[in-house]
Amino acid sequence: MFKLKNKVAIITGASRGIGKSIAQEISKSGAHVVCVSRSEGDLLKISNKLNDEGFSSSFFVCDVSDFSDFKKLIDDTVSKFNRVDILVNNAGITKDNLIMRMPESDWDKVIDVNLKGVFNGIKAVSRQMMKQKHGRIINISSIVGLIGNPGQANYAASKAGVIGLGKAVSKELASRNITVNTIAPGYIETDMVEDIQETVKEDLFKQIPLGRIGKPSDIATAVLYLASDEAGYITGQTLTIDGGMTSF
Ligand SMILES: NC(=O)c1ccc[n+]([C@@H]2O[C@H](COP(=O)([O-])OP(=O)(O)OC[C@H]3O[C@@H](n4cnc5c(N)ncnc54)[C@H](OP(=O)(O)O)[C@@H]3O)[C@@H](O)[C@H]2O)c1
Repeated sequence: MFKLKNKVAIITGASRGIGKSIAQEISKSGAHVVCVSRSEGDLLKISNKLNDEGFSSSFFVCDVSDFSDFKKLIDDTVSKFNRVDILVNNAGITKDNLIMRMPESDWDKVIDVNLKGVFNGIKAVSRQMMKQKHGRIINISSIVGLIGNPGQANYAASKAGVIGLGKAVSKELASRNITVNTIAPGYIETDMVEDIQETVKEDLFKQIPLGRIGKPSDIATAVLYLASDEAGYITGQTLTIDGGMTSF
């Protein structure tokens, strides 16, 4: 499909779920992939597996909510590879509760990882991408950031914030040939949706016109496209991938 030979890509939240699938897809297209999360053991396994399969990858342990951690990740990547072509800000968490019961700490934590984490990544990588006069930034939001969801005020706010942040920065970086796009997935089969009660899940699936929950690869292939040279005229956009759930 799309070729990313000689490119260097950083994928956050690559230890499992959607991020792991993105790391696989991007590395199969020829890029070197830096897999990022807080769990060294999981990252080591994923990176070793990709290398054993003949692809090129390394890993870096980083808490995306900490700017100095993210800066170290970018500095380390630039010192090893001299460039960063692609940054996928995928790491995210949920801490669900109705607003009346939501502790302030759960609000702060979700905003810190899901929104500030994306800010940290964009801020840390921008200088290098501007120098290169080339870059692809892809942020993973959610349909919850578009339509809301009861019990997810913190998550919805963080994901809506990611969409606004991406649009603003896309306008700032466009003159340097850096594109910034956002993907808003619907329900995707990962650990994040595992905790939803079966009855609630069944109701949710009835609302999906394509009649199935999404797979991590449904998101990963779209990331690959947005990361490719072929997508060079697309910036500031939000691509919803939800089986038609929010097609209004
Ligand atoms: N699954 C869905 O239905 C769905 C729908 C819409 C949007 N999304 C979004 O898609 C993204 C991936 O979701 P997923 O379903 O794949 O979730 P997941 O299976 O829970 O994986 C989340 C990833 O984020 C990493 N992570 C969490 N906090 C981090 C931090 N502070 N610093 C660095 N890494 C961190 C986790 O690694 P460690 O815990 O090892 O650090 C893990 O690799 C998230 O942004 C999520 O909001 C998911």
